[in-house]
Amino acid sequence: MRAEGSPFRPNSIQIIKGAVMFRTIDKLDVQGKRVLVRADLNVPAKDGKVTDTTRIDRSAATLIQLAAKGAKVIVLTHFGRPKGREDKYSQKLLVEPLAKAVGKAVAWADDCIGPDVEKLIASMKDGDIALLENVRFHPEEEKNDPAFAKALAALGDAYVNDAFSTAHRAHASTEGLAHLLPAAAGRLMQAELEALGKALEAPEKPVAAIVGGAKVSTKLDLLGNLVSKVDYLIIGGGMANTFLFAQGKQVGKSLCEKDLADTARAILEKAKEAKCHIVLPVDAVVAGEFAENAANEVVSVDAVPADKMILDAGPASAEAIIDRLGGCKTLVWNGPLGAFEIAPFDKATNAVAQWAAERTLQGKLLTVGGGGDTVSALAKAGVEEKFSYISTAGGAFLEWLEGKELPGVAALHVQPEQVRGTGCGCGAGGAGGCG
Ligand code: 3PG
Ligand code: MG
Repeated sequence: MRAEGSPFRPNSIQIIKGAVMFRTIDKLDVQGKRVLVRADLNVPAKDGKVTDTTRIDRSAATLIQLAAKGAKVIVLTHFGRPKGREDKYSQKLLVEPLAKAVGKAVAWADDCIGPDVEKLIASMKDGDIALLENVRFHPEEEKNDPAFAKALAALGDAYVNDAFSTAHRAHASTEGLAHLLPAAAGRLMQAELEALGKALEAPEKPVAAIVGGAKVSTKLDLLGNLVSKVDYLIIGGGMANTFLFAQGKQVGKSLCEKDLADTARAILEKAKEAKCHIVLPVDAVVAGEFAENAANEVVSVDAVPADKMILDAGPASAEAIIDRLGGCKTLVWNGPLGAFEIAPFDKATNAVAQWAAERTLQGKLLTVGGGGDTVSALAKAGVEEKFSYISTAGGAFLEWLEGKELPGVAALHVQPEQVRGTGCGCGAGGAGGCG
């Protein structure tokens, strides 16, 4: 049963990029309403204990604010990639850290649909928070099955998507629900979209991107998109070796995707046409083996010994990168510049990250990082709190850098005419029967 009346008040629309609009939870009238919040609490865990609560902590603001407004807050999430119901992917381990993050008790239901869940929700008081079991225990979730989405929708009066990091999945709880209930972006989703918008969609120029990491093959679409968007594309990590090799340099025993030399040359060509300056390392830290504190030396990229591998960008490269960034107003960072997990091959990543962090604190540079290893690399450099924004997303951040539309975000968009129209403006298009 849905409660009467629209949960939305006017003016709760956010404008991004001029035309693309999505609703936020501001002025959302949720008092006494059942609000389904799709969070991404897919956190790392070991031996039944959560080992990193970042995603839980960053999801808390939305839940706290909705509860404070008198909503019955029902949290949906996935955890891992279960094939049907698998005990090791039960979300019960999230209850305690979630309760700690929101500062109050969190009720628990061991399924996400069905009579027991309905009973639990019916017993909730305004301001209560409940966590439901893994949505992926139902294979229909990942199929975005309409009947499953409808069963979820029946549990709520409104839907808040706060899971930017799962927005690249068109699943029932991330996409389908947005068409069935009045939908809004939660605080974390809003923060991600605003930060990402400022970084690439409407950035202050000049804008630079640092793209590092091991392999070119996983980042072809990303590089292809970025050359048409940024003024400087700084390439580091193992993938830089493929570019150096494509330019005719010897890279010794370094990680290198030699079969992608043509592709690398095509990216360099595309960059030239787009007037994007590609910045590659000029020197490298090389070692005989991939090991912590392995004996190493700095060499020019023109003189990499045949029996050595490149494990980091050298000091002259770090300086050249900083020099380029000195003229920039915006920096998007994805991927480390070297093998940052093992000392001392984290030096270039640390030096550039720490410089960028200082610059950010001085108000001279907007810095946005995310995707894959980036968060741990930046955390290791000690700049996590100093960058303008660090995304909680892995795959979704990468797909966004690739210029792809994220289904979970697209489903939240509303058209300007839906705002101007005479209806409630909730964008539910009648499907959710809003107002
Ligand atoms: C992630 O951690 O990348 C998100 O939670 C999405 O998870 P998935 O890759 O299993 O869809
Ligand atoms: Mg993933």
